[in-house]
Amino acid sequence: MAARVHPSQAPGLPTTSLLQRAVAGVGWQAVEAELAKRADRHALRYSWPILARPEQLAPPGDWTWWMLSGGRGSGKTRSGAEMVRVWARDSTARIGILGKTPDDVRRDLLEGPSGLMQVCPPSERPTFQASISGGELTWPNGAKAFLLSGAHPAGIRGVNLTHAWVDELPHFKYPRLAWDNLGFALRLGRHVQGVITTTPLAIKLMHELMQRDDLVYSRASTYANRANLAENFFRTIIAKYEGTRFGRQEIHGELLEDVPGALWKASVFRLADVEPDALEVVAVAIDPAASSGEGAAETGIISGGRMPRLRGDTFSRFALLGDASLQGSPEEWARAAIDEYDRVGATLFVVEVNQGGEMVSSTIRSAWQAMGRSGAPRIHAVHASKGKRTRAEPISALYEQGRVTHVAGMTGLEDQMTLWSATAGEASPDRLDAAVWLLTELSDEGDMGKVGAEVRTPTRAPPLRSIGM
Ligand SMILES: Nc1ncnc2c1ncn2[C@@H]1O[C@H](COP(=O)(O)OP(=O)(O)OP(=O)(O)O)[C@@H](O)[C@H]1O
Ligand SMILES: [Mg+2]
Repeated sequence: MAARVHPSQAPGLPTTSLLQRAVAGVGWQAVEAELAKRADRHALRYSWPILARPEQLAPPGDWTWWMLSGGRGSGKTRSGAEMVRVWARDSTARIGILGKTPDDVRRDLLEGPSGLMQVCPPSERPTFQASISGGELTWPNGAKAFLLSGAHPAGIRGVNLTHAWVDELPHFKYPRLAWDNLGFALRLGRHVQGVITTTPLAIKLMHELMQRDDLVYSRASTYANRANLAENFFRTIIAKYEGTRFGRQEIHGELLEDVPGALWKASVFRLADVEPDALEVVAVAIDPAASSGEGAAETGIISGGRMPRLRGDTFSRFALLGDASLQGSPEEWARAAIDEYDRVGATLFVVEVNQGGEMVSSTIRSAWQAMGRSGAPRIHAVHASKGKRTRAEPISALYEQGRVTHVAGMTGLEDQMTLWSATAGEASPDRLDAAVWLLTELSDEGDMGKVGAEVRTPTRAPPLRSIGM
């Protein structure tokens, strides 16, 4: 099954707005003269059906989702705001407006030049009531909208919505969580609908959306909106990226497949429901964030283990069992790591000690004691003597050989793996780092790892899928 393309984008149909076509046909002066006869000539700036290009208007039919993916400045946000305006004509509408951060929602989606307040004529404009969770809009007819943000996916729980507008979904910090929560919230009325307006990004969720047969998509290029953008923006910014791969995504709105230079392709991930007791060693690896607090990186916490070699096997296979990564203080990540350790029955922590020196191990030890546990946890401290990419290469090779499986739900890690191209200045992917440490420790030194002391006899056979059968 696959998403359907917006019918207006079939070959041969007009690609310009009604206004552009009228101007091309009879000239601007004639159009202007016609407008001057109308009582409210300013109404034109609010007449979206006349201004919009065909791909910016909602598709016909009974779709659940419409995704407008487009280049920078191609008119995505405006199209989303105009869609909300249409929905709000129904007084019973309860619309979720979801952007990347609370700031983005307020600044762009609500108050920006293409935001809701600008696109609604004064008589139709909602009133805005700010609140800690984002805020609420109320239209003169009683329709309501709620401002939500992808930075706080938990805030999307518990709202009841008839419609939703999601701007820049794949660029959220937690796109999957926000999307899942939104799915539960969209449940009011007879037929829920939502629009996603975004510059594309090849995360797994986007590929999944493109498989939905209740989704219609349209694509907009930055050039299509040229009339409404500054000329020197094209000369300086757009010209620089034209003809490049980045340009295909950022100017033409194309959803690209694999990231060049990325060590993992989306096709290498093998799902298998492996139980910890089918493994001969189980460990939890931690890649701690350098700082904590709002905006800080996540601490990567990944659990997994090694399968016993089958007779005749010349190499080992590995299974990742969980991802407990989080953004939090050292105490919070240490507790989360110990919980994960218990959940999977691990016997070992693997931590990198370069960054915080002894700090990481001692954080785990004190959380261990604070949680009332006896003894001391076993901790393998590893040192990053090689560069990140050099370290990750042999691990990506294990995936290419089909020797690593993931349990379902590890899409956060998988996205980091497929998007990270290891170029200078790129943010460090914490889950990926933790997974690389874990698998290195389990597989190094002649494939049997440095974990000899931890090896036990599994009590359960691994599922056939996990051993390539
Ligand atoms: N069909 C149109 N007619 C007139 N103006 C338009 C049209 N489409 C978009 N615009 C205007 O073009 C400008 C850029 O549009 P918008 O902000 O929606 O682009 P965007 O694709 O969301 O950009 P970004 O990539 O920065 O998020 C805005 O001022 C918007 O009001
Ligand atoms: Mg925008």
